[in-house]
Parts: sequence; C-alpha cells; structure tokens
Amino acid sequence: MDLRQLEAEPTEDEREAIDARLGSHPQREGTHFAAGLRRDRRHLLLPALQAAQARVGWISEGVLAYICKRLDVPPADAWGVATFYGLLSMEPRPRRVLHVCDDIACRCSGANELIAELERTLGVGDGAAWQRSPCLGLCDQAPAAFLTVAGPAPAERLFGPVTAEQARAVLAPEGTLPAMRRPRPPQAGDPSLRLLERVGIVDPGSLDEYQAHGGYQALARAFEMGPERVIREVLDSKLMGRGGAAFPMGRKWDAVARQPARPHYLICNADESEPGTFKDRVLMEGDPFAVVESMTICAYATGCEKGYVYARGEYPLAFERLQGAIEAARARGLLGADVMGHGVRFDIEIRRGAGAYICGEETAIFNSIEGFRGEPRNKPPFPVEVGLFGKPTVVNNVETLVNVLGIVREGGAAYARIGTPQSTGPKLFCVSGHVVRPGVYEVEFGATLRDLLALAGGVAGGRKAQAILLGGAAGVFVRGDELDIALTFEEARAAQVTLGSGVVMVFDDSVDLTSILLRIAAFFRDESCGQCVPCRVGTVRQEEALHRIVTGRPHGSTGAELALLDEIGRAMKDASICGLGQTAYGAVESAARRLKLFEKGKVG
Ligand SMILES: Cc1cc2nc3c(=O)[nH]c(=O)nc-3n(C[C@H](O)[C@H](O)[C@H](O)COP(=O)(O)O)c2cc1C
Ligand code: SF4
Ligand code: FES
Repeated sequence: MDLRQLEAEPTEDEREAIDARLGSHPQREGTHFAAGLRRDRRHLLLPALQAAQARVGWISEGVLAYICKRLDVPPADAWGVATFYGLLSMEPRPRRVLHVCDDIACRCSGANELIAELERTLGVGDGAAWQRSPCLGLCDQAPAAFLTVAGPAPAERLFGPVTAEQARAVLAPEGTLPAMRRPRPPQAGDPSLRLLERVGIVDPGSLDEYQAHGGYQALARAFEMGPERVIREVLDSKLMGRGGAAFPMGRKWDAVARQPARPHYLICNADESEPGTFKDRVLMEGDPFAVVESMTICAYATGCEKGYVYARGEYPLAFERLQGAIEAARARGLLGADVMGHGVRFDIEIRRGAGAYICGEETAIFNSIEGFRGEPRNKPPFPVEVGLFGKPTVVNNVETLVNVLGIVREGGAAYARIGTPQSTGPKLFCVSGHVVRPGVYEVEFGATLRDLLALAGGVAGGRKAQAILLGGAAGVFVRGDELDIALTFEEARAAQVTLGSGVVMVFDDSVDLTSILLRIAAFFRDESCGQCVPCRVGTVRQEEALHRIVTGRPHGSTGAELALLDEIGRAMKDASICGLGQTAYGAVESAARRLKLFEKGKVG
C-alpha cells in the first residue's frame, strides 16, 4: 500500500460498512458511555477496520483513508494498527479465507498431513484462499480451522476436525458453511462440578434456564452483602487469577475499589490465544450468562460502570452467545442503568481481537481497545491505578471471574477449603494432544497429572507419554514419567514448572519433539510485538539456533549452540518488558534440561 494514495476514495460497499459501524453522523461518534461526553474517537479504529475487513475481505487505501478522516487518526498511525493484526489483510484477498491450524496440538491429529494436502491441491502463498494459523483454541477438535466469509452478510465459523475435502468444499464460492458443533463436555452432568456445572446441560441462549439452574442467585446475594463484604469474601477465598499470572483477585478488586479517580473500568480477558488453551471458550460458549453475572458482581464491588469483554477474534460462537446473553440480561434489567432495581449502573460491551497473541497481555488490551497497536505498556503504573483510558481498571480472566459466583454464594472461607491452602478452589485444565478424550476438565487443586490423564482416558492408542507440555507455549515440558506432580501453584513452583493457563498437552512416544519445539519458537518469533530488543531479536535468534541444531548444522558444535540459546534465553527472561519475552525460552530450556532432548544421538 502506498500511503500517498490516501486521497483514494472508498467504494460504496466500504463506505456503507464504515458508516454502519461508526454511524452516518460524525458528530455522534465520540459519545462516550459513562460521562456522555464527546471523547477521542480513536477507540473506534479497530472496530472500523474490522468492519471493512468483514465487508470486502481486506483493507484498501480508500477505506483506510475514509476511516482516518472519520476518526481523525493520522494515516501512518492507522496503517501501523491495521498491520499489527493477523486477521486484517492489507492486500486483496479472496472473500472466503480458511485459517488452518498448524500448531502443536493439531499436529498430534494430522495437521501437517492436512496442510501438505492443501498445499498440493489449493496452492500456497498470499493469493491462496487458505493460510496457516497458530492455535485456534479448538485443540479438543483438532485439526481445527476458522473460516471467514466477507460480504454484506459476513460469516465466520470455528470448526473441527477438518478434512482436506471439507476445506475445499467450504472454500467454494457458494459452499455450505460448516456447523460449529461442539462435543458434549466429558464431565457434563457430574454433580460435583462448580465452574462447568451448567456447560452442556443448559441452553446457553436461555436466561430462564440459567436462572432455573441457580443463575443470578449470586448477584442477588452480592446486593445483600454490599460491595465491601463482597471484596472481603473474595479476599478470604484466596482466589488466584487463572489467566496465567496467578495474582490474588481480591487484592486487585480492593485496590480498584479504593481509587478516587473515576470512572473505573472492568475488562474480562477473553483473548485466550496461548497455544493449547480453550477453557475460556468452553465457558463462554456453554455458560455465557455466568460470565455476564460474574462481571456484574465485580463491577458492583469495585465501582465500575462499564465493562468490556476483550474476546478472541477467532471465537465467533463465543461472541454470538455472549452478545445474546448481554442483550437478554439488559432486556430484563440485569444490566443497564438500574441493575435489579438496586440503583447500580453497569453495562458490557464486547470488543473483538483481530489475531494477536500479545493482545491477551493486560496492558496490550488497553492499547488495543483505545485504538493503538496492541503493544504492552511498562508497569508501573499498574492497571489498578492507571489502566484503560488512563483510569483504574480491573482485568480478570474469564475463568477467574466465573469462580466469583461460588465464592459469593458459599462464602470465601468455604471456597478456601476447596483445593490446598495455597491453591484454593476448582481449576480447569485443557487436556489435548495424544489422549483418548481431549477436553476441558475441572478438578480441585491438588489433583496430579496422572489423575488428569486418567480423566482424559489415558494416552491414545495405548502408547506411552513421551512428554507433557504444561502451561502452553509459554510453559515447560515435563517427562512422561513425572506424572505424580500435583497441579498446584506451590508444587509447580517446587518442581520448577508452571501451570500457566492450564494447558496439559500430551505427546506420545511417536512424536518428533524437535519439530514441536521449532513450531513453538516460530510462534514466539511471529507474535513478539517487536517493541523491545531482547524479545524482538531474541525470538528470531532462538529460532535460528534451534533450526541449526535440529537440522544437524550447528555453528561450532551443538554444545556451543545450546550455550548460545541459554544466553539468549537469559537475556529475554531478564530484560523483556512483558511476559511474552520472559517466557519465550521456557519450553526450549525445559526440552534441553528436563527432557535432555539435545543429548548425543537424540538429534541431528
Ligand atoms: C503474552 C501474554 C498473553 C496473555 N494472554 C492472556 C489471555 O489470553 N487471557 C488471560 O486471561 N490472560 C492473559 N495474559 C495474562 C494477563 O496479562 C493478566 O495477567 C490476566 O488477564 C489477569 O487476569 P487474572 O488475574 O484473572 O488471571 C497474558 C499475558 C501475557 C504476557
Ligand atoms: S517482551 Fe516481546 S511482546 Fe513483550 S513488549 Fe517486548 S517485544 Fe513486545
Ligand atoms: S487449535 Fe490447533 S493447536 Fe489449538
């Protein structure tokens, strides 16, 4: 694209798509929720770009220029944002595009063979109607695919397991869109479930069914308690965040509630892009009202009048169901200006990501919503003081939030008795790879890796587990004989592993782990936002060194390359701004040290 071409005009279709998203009267654009004030319109940039993408399948010079004029954003700046996201294209593309997962769990279910077949029959490269994708968050239905269809009535489908034949069929101009069927959750109906109690049991589109199964009792109880008592219960529960960083939720809520600056914001982090993670999708698709209710409790306790769900762009069914739940709740007075008649104002808006793993980092979400590139911010200041739009902000993960329903209903002390003293409550694990029944499993903290594997039916085909990846690409490998590790924060620390976002990915003894490691390294190289040097350069150098080792062409010796990897890894860990760079070496390091993958005779 030539930025000098920004005098170009949009087509009628493009203009219509942008006017539909921004409103046809420019003076209405900045109307901001809480204050009703006209504010910076920049926060509409990503939604406008997404509207153009959905209408014509790519972002032309003409539409970019039109968006810039409508929102008063400099063209070079808007270009920087548009090129940041994997789902936005700055080049003409077919109206139907299939994103096929070639990531690590899907490789255990034939993704490589599927992709080879697509390359042979549909071609490769920018003009092709399909492209490779990192993990799509559908690892339990591997190999997974995400279809986007641009047009006046755009459509999206996240589905799997996909075959080459089906891929070709859905890419045909009038091809039938695939259904988004979901397997019945493996534990559905188990009366001991807390987080998954309604998933696969209730109709996710029915507020009546939600209420008939205990829905909105927790919010009613919260109103009886009052905001301070709700926070007290959350503190007593000792609930730690489930998004990966394991920060105590109560402390975050308490800090925001005390901030004098207004307004306060709540963000439900539903970006879920860590390879191997799909628990939040299962919650949002299967029990969307639980997300809405728990956000309302949080908002009440912390004084937020506006909440955002920052939802992964590749999750159309979760988006549809959450949107339906928000509208149904609003229609019944469970959201809006006077929630349940208690004089509390709270509403929720969903903002969709556009294909960037880094946008799950909490401060990157702020930039993404505000219409900037999704680059993390330096901390401090922390989000509880200076967050979204510079205001105090609670950011919590979907699973973390859903825990609040049980805490409010049963009390923090009772909740704290579940699990172990330092890791309280139930926990969701995303079990994928070579297991008989991949899926999301709920256990109490304290269950071992062996327990989880047993729940998932053991290693598929009666083979042996060679290695298990805990915590996703940002996590670490353990050996197949380390199944007695208890999955708690304290034991994970002691065993020098991480629970991260709850990934348990099993690789049997037939897998070439070096190819898995190369995919992980490529993931970090692709997803680094490039803002800081150790990560931007380190992730590239890490991939190159690994490649040389794996292909048997080390500079010097394998030992020298491993020492180099270690040095790069240390620099990334110590000097990167955010968790992406800090964890980019974890899987490689554990493969070298724990699995001894590069010892003589094993590679090269
Ligand atoms: C690169 C990166 C990606 C992240 N992605 C997610 C994500 O997709 N979902 C999430 O909840 N947290 C993610 N986090 C963690 C968030 O920054 C933050 O800690 C979390 O949303 C806080 O919620 P919690 O306390 O409820 O876990 C990510 C962090 C990093 C560094
Ligand atoms: S560590 Fe990587 S992803 Fe994080 S800010 Fe630096 S360059 Fe960006
Ligand atoms: S959906 Fe393919 S690895 Fe997760």
